[in-house]
Amino acid sequence: MILVTGGTGYIGSHTVAELLGAGREVVILDNLCNSRADVVERITAITGEQPQFAQGDIRDAALLDHLFARHKFEAVIHFAGLKAVGESVEKPLEYYDNNVHGSMTLFGAMQRHAVKRLVFSSSATVYGDPATLPLREDAPLHATNPYGRTKLMIEQMLEDIARADPAWRIATLRYFNPIGAHASGRIGEAPNGTPNNLLPYIAQVAAGKLKQLSIFGDDYPTPDGTGIRDYIHVVDLALGHLKALNHLAAHSGLHVYNLGTGQGYSVLEILRAFERASGKTIPFQIVPRRPGDIASCYADASKAARELGWQAQCGLGEMCGDAWRWQCNDGFIRY
Ligand code: NAD
Ligand code: WQD
Repeated sequence: MILVTGGTGYIGSHTVAELLGAGREVVILDNLCNSRADVVERITAITGEQPQFAQGDIRDAALLDHLFARHKFEAVIHFAGLKAVGESVEKPLEYYDNNVHGSMTLFGAMQRHAVKRLVFSSSATVYGDPATLPLREDAPLHATNPYGRTKLMIEQMLEDIARADPAWRIATLRYFNPIGAHASGRIGEAPNGTPNNLLPYIAQVAAGKLKQLSIFGDDYPTPDGTGIRDYIHVVDLALGHLKALNHLAAHSGLHVYNLGTGQGYSVLEILRAFERASGKTIPFQIVPRRPGDIASCYADASKAARELGWQAQCGLGEMCGDAWRWQCNDGFIRY
């Protein structure tokens, strides 16, 4: 039995679907602050298997004790957290309470119940503005916003836990830019309100829900002047979690992995790829840079390939095609 915190969210739901497909039993814990309960039915429809669902908060120690007493969890995959960089600048305390305090409460419950196998959702944002590319796991860490600092703090907490108690087995996964959706079109990224991230914004322009894309700067030191990122299909990312779980079954200690494709694409390249996938023209305008943005960021994912036997399989066309299908099928309109 695997406990998946944040399991009705974007990446969590795709990971739960792959876990169920691999014959694992899952309990989802989610407070639905950024997702909806009907994702559970959608996952069931996709997989034919029903995950158990507990609506609640990782900061609720009594609820965690109840869940850990009731289920014999083999491991925890910890997705639950707030993840909007801009919002974290406006509401740092909310981010520290939710992400850091929430993680501490979860790890305390794991310790009390002797469940010491964890896969943690970290982010490439802990690297800050990289001095050299592609990014290796031993690159300097320098978060530049409260959200990134919560991830860095949790990573450091896990380092100390693993050092103090060798019984812990931890995989810290640093995601780059997850995009796309399950091929069924039943689950996908469903941002609250106007999307901050590039892909859901482009998808809504293609669907006619938004007028045009504002490209945040075309004066970066990149081939076409727009920002370069390492976009990875969310299902590839989900499968990386299953590989990490398998690795922890055979290896103790703490292990850190970049989960990216190793291939960077610019904003304009993504826009053109989405036009090809959707058959739609995406109107855009160039506007000034977004504060805090960096020029380029993409992974050296060779450690995950070497140690986990994991590599991203989906190309940009599939990522955009699956994102477009999700947008057309449902786009999970927020009520
Ligand atoms: P998401 O918002 O879709 O999913 C997070 C889920 O956690 C949501 O369902 C939300 O309701 C739940 N949640 C939040 N706080 C909670 C709490 N206190 N108790 C219980 N549930 C809570 O986000 P996502 O894109 O699926 O991201 C999942 C994880 O991956 C996050 O930790 C995020 O920081 C990390 N991450 C995401 C990206 C990305 O671009 N999406 C990149 C790197 C890392
Ligand atoms: C991608 C590129 C923008 C929107 C963020 C978080 C990171 C992680 C992933 C959680 C950039 C450009 C975007 C738009 C644009 N999340 N862009 N117009 O900023 O790389 O990473 O999401 O861990 O922590 O920082 O992703 O999709 O916002 O931007 O031109 O309307 O698209 O400038 O070059 P980002 P993004």
